[in-house]
Amino acid sequence: MRSRELQCVPVRSRASYELQLSRRLGPTSGWFRDEPSPGGRAGTVSAVDLYDAIRRRRDTRAEFTGEPLDDEVLTRVLSAAHSAPSVGMSQPWDFVLVRDPAKLDAFHEHVATEREVFAASLDGERASTFGGIKIEGIRESGLGVVVGYDPTRGGDNVLGRHAIADAGLYSVCLAIQNLWLAATAEGLGVGWVSFYREEFLSGLVGFPEQIRPVAWLCLGTVAGLPDVPDLERFGWRHRSPLESVLHEDSWSH
Ligand SMILES: Cc1cc2nc3c(=O)[nH]c(=O)nc-3n(C[C@H](O)[C@H](O)[C@H](O)COP(=O)(O)O)c2cc1C
Repeated sequence: MRSRELQCVPVRSRASYELQLSRRLGPTSGWFRDEPSPGGRAGTVSAVDLYDAIRRRRDTRAEFTGEPLDDEVLTRVLSAAHSAPSVGMSQPWDFVLVRDPAKLDAFHEHVATEREVFAASLDGERASTFGGIKIEGIRESGLGVVVGYDPTRGGDNVLGRHAIADAGLYSVCLAIQNLWLAATAEGLGVGWVSFYREEFLSGLVGFPEQIRPVAWLCLGTVAGLPDVPDLERFGWRHRSPLESVLHEDSWSH
């Protein structure tokens, strides 16, 4: 029988963790530019810490505790997102912090409907496996970060985007990944939700016409982060080995 027990890495005591972090980072969120980075000289990061955050990062759904986030921590995580590389330095992202319970409920309902739409496309084993998978923690996390892409940011001549329009969207995804890794380093959970219609989410957060919603990120304190991705744990799909995606000189080799 498949075990559905959570395998969690315990989060260090928040008080001691934050004390340790503020000693390392100082009270300002300006450390990205001016101050020694955590665990290293100015301009460097500890490779061990970075790889550790990459390894521990998990898409989080069931582990949110609902405990409110500290504002300073939230600012650090958002500053990490805002420090991402972007095509032509366009920084084409916006972050809408959604805490209004009515909005969290409305998005939760919409996602539940879209879950049914996807479920209706599945048969047999796929349908029953999907039935056991939780796909969001919208209400439990208590905070949604809606990430938008504004292709007009940076004007008409964004350096590096003239031939590849998607380069703007890539930049937004890098901001999301920075946010995700920073949140992991802070002992927080992030869950990316994409079971939605873009028009619905734009309407919910009042995006103007030109801004495209790229992600709803559930962000919050967690009891722990699972060791194994949920989709592996529930038998939906497994991470492939590096060798299966690595090529030499040509895709066919
Ligand atoms: C673009 C994108 C959209 C995603 N959408 C969802 C989603 O709607 N619901 C969900 O439970 N997980 C979603 N995920 C999380 C993936 O399922 C998860 O990243 C993957 O299974 C690997 O697990 P890990 O992130 O814990 O390593 C999404 C991830 C990405 C990158």
